[in-house]
Amino acid sequence: MKGVILAAGKGTRLYPITRHIAKPLLPIANRPTLHYAFDRLREVGIEDICLVVGENEAQMMDALGDGSSLGIRLTYVRQAEPKGLAHAVSFAKEFVGSDSFCLYLGDAMYSDSLAPFARRYEESGCANLNLVKWVPDPSRFGVANLDGERIVKLVEKPSVPESNYAMAGLYFFGPQIWSVLPGLQPSERGEFEITDAIQTLINQGQTVLAGVYEGAWFDTGTLDSFLETTAHLIGEDQLVAEDAHVLGGVGHSVVIGAGAHVSCGVIENSVVLPGSHIRVGGHIRRCILAGRVEADGDLEDQIRWGDSSQ
Ligand code: TTP
Repeated sequence: MKGVILAAGKGTRLYPITRHIAKPLLPIANRPTLHYAFDRLREVGIEDICLVVGENEAQMMDALGDGSSLGIRLTYVRQAEPKGLAHAVSFAKEFVGSDSFCLYLGDAMYSDSLAPFARRYEESGCANLNLVKWVPDPSRFGVANLDGERIVKLVEKPSVPESNYAMAGLYFFGPQIWSVLPGLQPSERGEFEITDAIQTLINQGQTVLAGVYEGAWFDTGTLDSFLETTAHLIGEDQLVAEDAHVLGGVGHSVVIGAGAHVSCGVIENSVVLPGSHIRVGGHIRRCILAGRVEADGDLEDQIRWGDSSQ
């Protein structure tokens, strides 16, 4: 089995930081986000991984190289425009060949191993197995209607959900997917949706299964979810690099990267990227900060890069 990681998005919800650092490379608890994905894939025996990249291609190749230092083999393919997950995955067709593959979203993080799901996918012989997670508020998600282990229907953000199982952004596919992708039409939001591809497999009568994931699943792509993921990894602790200089109180769930200088009242539930210079008169709460940031009062719920106010 091979791995395909989609990492070609623009990451607009983390602007302005993701204008400078590609979202899949953003350090979470001081490790690039993608390193966690590589861990999870290696754990199920996947070492051949295709990264679907976009305008961040050069930065990604610089940072990750051929993957050998991370115990994997990386292949890069370029998606010209981020036109949706089903569009992105089509660029990995040649890389995957006749193999099966695990499709992983570059901004996702999973607390528990994926090995039971890879095993179930392989022993079942199904066309596709998708991680689903029970959530109390399914209306925000793509929802899987189940009959036993089978997914019988997918509904995007249903106003009246028929199930509490949200699609959890992790998929195992066999070669059946390749014949489905060329026939897809863009959705209402103008993207080629992976859920439409899966629904087509279901309509064709292929076996499409759900694997219920009990662990925690994070999408790191917003300020709130980025900080929540960080807090999941470090708890209430402070992860302050040895060579960072901090003048001020450090509260719960704080990461301060290497070489950073921070001067403020109290900093809590926030991340300061390596090499930053932060001078804030008041407190810092729920922020991701990078570059040279100065402010007189408190800084709350902000993503800041340098002195940019974008
Ligand atoms: P999203 O989070 O939906 O998109 P994004 O990363 O561009 O972020 P934003 O919405 O804030 O602009 O994408 C989920 C993952 O899929 C992410 O790792 C990027 C990747 N992706 C692609 O590789 N190609 C695409 O066409 C899209 C839409 C996403």
